[in-house]
Amino acid sequence: MNNTEKETGRSETAPVVKKETILSGMQPTGSLHIGNLEGALRNWVRLQDEYWMYCCIVDWHALTAEYDDTRAFKEKIFQMAVDYLAAGLDPDKCAVFIQSEVKEHAELHLIFSMLISVPTLSRLPTYQEKKDRLDSYGFLGYPVLQAADICLYNANKVPVGKDQEKHVWLANDLAKKFNSTYRKVFVEPEALFTDIPMIPGSDNRKMSKSYGNHIPLEATEKETENILKKYYTDPAKVYKGDPGNPDICPVYLIHRVYTADAADIIAPPCRTGELGCVDCKKILTKNLNAALHPIRERRLELLKQPDYVWSVLETGRERAHHRAQNVMEKVRDAMKMNYRKKK
Ligand code: TRP
Repeated sequence: MNNTEKETGRSETAPVVKKETILSGMQPTGSLHIGNLEGALRNWVRLQDEYWMYCCIVDWHALTAEYDDTRAFKEKIFQMAVDYLAAGLDPDKCAVFIQSEVKEHAELHLIFSMLISVPTLSRLPTYQEKKDRLDSYGFLGYPVLQAADICLYNANKVPVGKDQEKHVWLANDLAKKFNSTYRKVFVEPEALFTDIPMIPGSDNRKMSKSYGNHIPLEATEKETENILKKYYTDPAKVYKGDPGNPDICPVYLIHRVYTADAADIIAPPCRTGELGCVDCKKILTKNLNAALHPIRERRLELLKQPDYVWSVLETGRERAHHRAQNVMEKVRDAMKMNYRKKK
């Protein structure tokens, strides 16, 4: 199949099927953890069968926080691509690519930046929260770049967490604004929320690499065991025998994802005090390691084939670029800025 056939879903035998498009984005934070896996990746892996998927590693977005320390970007991008593939993203179904390798993101960002006011951007909670630390022009424009990421592929759906809802609205507003100012080029994207389990970190805050409370996919079985050993539990349950409350215990929340019958075999004996935290964590260690085993095996295989991983990012770039060029041609036409084009 060539690219055009892929985009339209047309082939000799199959009828024309118009699949919708999904774009997702993640900053290159390096290797991923089980919060990323359960909160995003597993969902993407499911979605790739039903949609045209574009998975963008947003290195330009990462510059907003780390403009002066870019040395690790390449390695972080590589590690993230390894984890994507290990978790089951299929390069035949999903274009995994690096944002800065498709320059059209920057072009559309510039055009979109004219269609939105500074006060609108500065009111966004994501800006308000960090503006004391990050007050650059680029950081203020972060959501505009995100809107460009989304609209450049005419994505219908954007799988994000609730914290990103306003950014997808903004992309929707910008698509509308462009369409009404010039001519209809963009579809209006929407956020796609799915029921995703909350995976708390070892200190009971949200799991995040920057908090150092995470369980990396790349951790060994022994390392996983050690991280779970220091996990926060119900503080009222001090000794084995004390009754515990699984509803407030982060270890129990993780059990609910990795232990099939947690509600029957973990919660009741925890409440009565029959099951102590040490044994409870042992069961979770076993189940979590079993679930991660195939991903970890694939990870190790992929690490031995860096050329393959980079070739996946190259094929992803080609496919993304093909689509992005197409949309940008329409943008330039609509704006009457395609000066060299003969009618
Ligand atoms: N802002 C997103 C985050 O912090 C990352 C992102 C950038 C993104 N561009 C995107 C997410 C496009 C979805 C679609 O998580």
